[in-house]
Amino acid sequence: MPLLEVKDLAVRYDKAVILNGVSLHVDAGEFVGIVGPNGAGKSTVLRAVSGLIRFQEQMQRGTHGQVVLEGEIRFAGERIDALPAHEIRKRGFALCPSRQRPFRELSVLDNLMAGAHLSTDAAQTRRRLERCFALFPRLAERKDQVSGTLSGGEQQMLATARALMYDAKLFAIDEPSLGLAPLIREEVFATISRIHAEGIPVLVVEQEVGQVFRLAHRNYVLSQGRVWGEGAGDKLLADESLRACYLGTL
Ligand SMILES: Nc1ncnc2c1ncn2[C@@H]1O[C@H](COP(=O)(O)OP(=O)(O)OP(=O)(O)O)[C@@H](O)[C@H]1O
Ligand SMILES: [Mg+2]
Repeated sequence: MPLLEVKDLAVRYDKAVILNGVSLHVDAGEFVGIVGPNGAGKSTVLRAVSGLIRFQEQMQRGTHGQVVLEGEIRFAGERIDALPAHEIRKRGFALCPSRQRPFRELSVLDNLMAGAHLSTDAAQTRRRLERCFALFPRLAERKDQVSGTLSGGEQQMLATARALMYDAKLFAIDEPSLGLAPLIREEVFATISRIHAEGIPVLVVEQEVGQVFRLAHRNYVLSQGRVWGEGAGDKLLADESLRACYLGTL
């Protein structure tokens, strides 16, 4: 049984079709990538899985700009596509959204503790904090610093660590390298790889295929709301249709 299974997912905003029959899965222990050009629908997949599209659908029902989500999403065997976002989080889907910014005026430590707000077990939260500090020694050094003064790379580390401050059965991260210098990108991906090595399955969404193809067991290529290809990075790189996807000629 896959850990995450998305079947025939469709998302529409009014008449605009954003996702059109997307099916994908992540198995226990896997590192999976979702790549594709600008506007392909990558973030929408993560927003659908985490319950944010359903929330938007309910908020906007009967008003302008109707949102529709169809299809099936299962996490650890359970249907989750009708659940509210906090219930999905409670089941262990830990998402670090794209360009997630910390609460600027709060310290690094307080931002991390905000990631644990669903927790009722103080001892476990302390253990998770220790683990985050082990993964990101720079955050430990700066735990009392006001988060708004962190560098871009440090803010990305903080957002990543915050997602790990509560039960993570699957760690999903949207565009971790966006806006970061090449050296910092490598550092961010090295950490994602360490998270996976600690036994947490990983789902990474990226526009840039370089680092993801190097690390992921399997990748899905998304373009115009559909899955155009699936496989290991080297296989996809050899496939002419990948280029066509990115150039928008497919
Ligand atoms: N709230 C919304 N209302 C209408 N259209 C939307 C909304 N959010 C996203 N879209 C559209 O859905 C499409 C897919 O967006 P999405 O953010 O999922 O793409 P993406 O693959 O993550 O792109 P990027 O690589 O630029 O982050 C885009 O064409 C976008 O304009
Ligand atoms: Mg996106």
